[in-house]
Amino acid sequence: MDTVKTATQFDPTADLILYEGDCLALLPQIPDRFVKLVVTSPPYNLGKPYETRLDMDEYVAQQRKVITECVRVLDGRGSLCWQVGNYVEDGEIIPLDIVLYPVFASRGLHLRNRIVWHFGHGLHASRRFSGRYEVILWFTKGHDYTFNLDDVRVPQKYPTKKHFKGPRRGELSGNPLGKNPSDVWEIPNVKANHVEKTIHPCQFPVELIERLVLALTDAGDWVLDPFMGVGTTAIAALMHDRKAIGAEIMPEYVQIARERLAQAERGALRIRPMERSVYDPDMPGASLPPQVVRLGPTPVQGRLFEPRASYDAEDEQE
Ligand SMILES: C[S@@+](CC[C@H](N)C(=O)[O-])C[C@H]1O[C@@H](n2cnc3c(N)ncnc32)[C@H](O)[C@@H]1O
Repeated sequence: MDTVKTATQFDPTADLILYEGDCLALLPQIPDRFVKLVVTSPPYNLGKPYETRLDMDEYVAQQRKVITECVRVLDGRGSLCWQVGNYVEDGEIIPLDIVLYPVFASRGLHLRNRIVWHFGHGLHASRRFSGRYEVILWFTKGHDYTFNLDDVRVPQKYPTKKHFKGPRRGELSGNPLGKNPSDVWEIPNVKANHVEKTIHPCQFPVELIERLVLALTDAGDWVLDPFMGVGTTAIAALMHDRKAIGAEIMPEYVQIARERLAQAERGALRIRPMERSVYDPDMPGASLPPQVVRLGPTPVQGRLFEPRASYDAEDEQE
């Protein structure tokens, strides 16, 4: 991508639409089936600086309006990924995926995975176990959907392991393209020392969204984030030659999103690369250095294996 054509209102000829305001004002501007992927982390109703704590019924009613519009604008082969944690009150947790699941089901979506995003850092609890995961509910609109598994495979644990008996004796037993990343993703969350940290209290790590963008969309597709924050979804989409549209209600976050995207356009935004191993104190030099974002088709870094076309996808039945 040479230059990114940016718009502040819906414009189908743009590469990037960053709407400053309520997503419920942007969504009606988007035509039916326009986007291939909706990926977002909505407000959790925890009283963060950008949200007013609502009664749970009111919160769900508000989310229902956004979800209904997101389903309308979703392509028939498209996916919707809602990343949520817990609502907490008086030390009692209410998992928001459980609360919101009936809303998605009532809109006819099909749940493909409940991905557990596991991370190492967070508040230390004293009257329950410290929370170290959140979830991503991945739904598809239909039964025929885009899923580019080969683009998001991760290295095999034992890449040279071979069949030791039977007709395939001596052949590699694992897929040389790598293995399915599974539904438990260990990806550091963006805390103080993370290379991507901004002032936002809960931004996505870029690599979390890259995996979804690569697996669930093709080049040129539109990716929507109705609660855009500091623009992480747009960065992940544009760095892989997709187009991005999103809304954010807080002007200071929109400003940071613009700055991050401008940095990315000049090749000056540093991110934690996908597939970097999580820090291992016994092997401090083992992981990849930060990656500098480039927009357009970005080669996936850190691949430790070579594609081999003749492989039969054994053990991969679903
Ligand atoms: C959990 S954060 C998302 C952060 C984002 N994933 C990122 O990487 O920066 C939710 C965001 O939604 C924004 N927000 C809340 N209500 C909104 C609304 N009605 N329309 C648009 N944005 C809203 C908040 O200001 C906040 O930045």
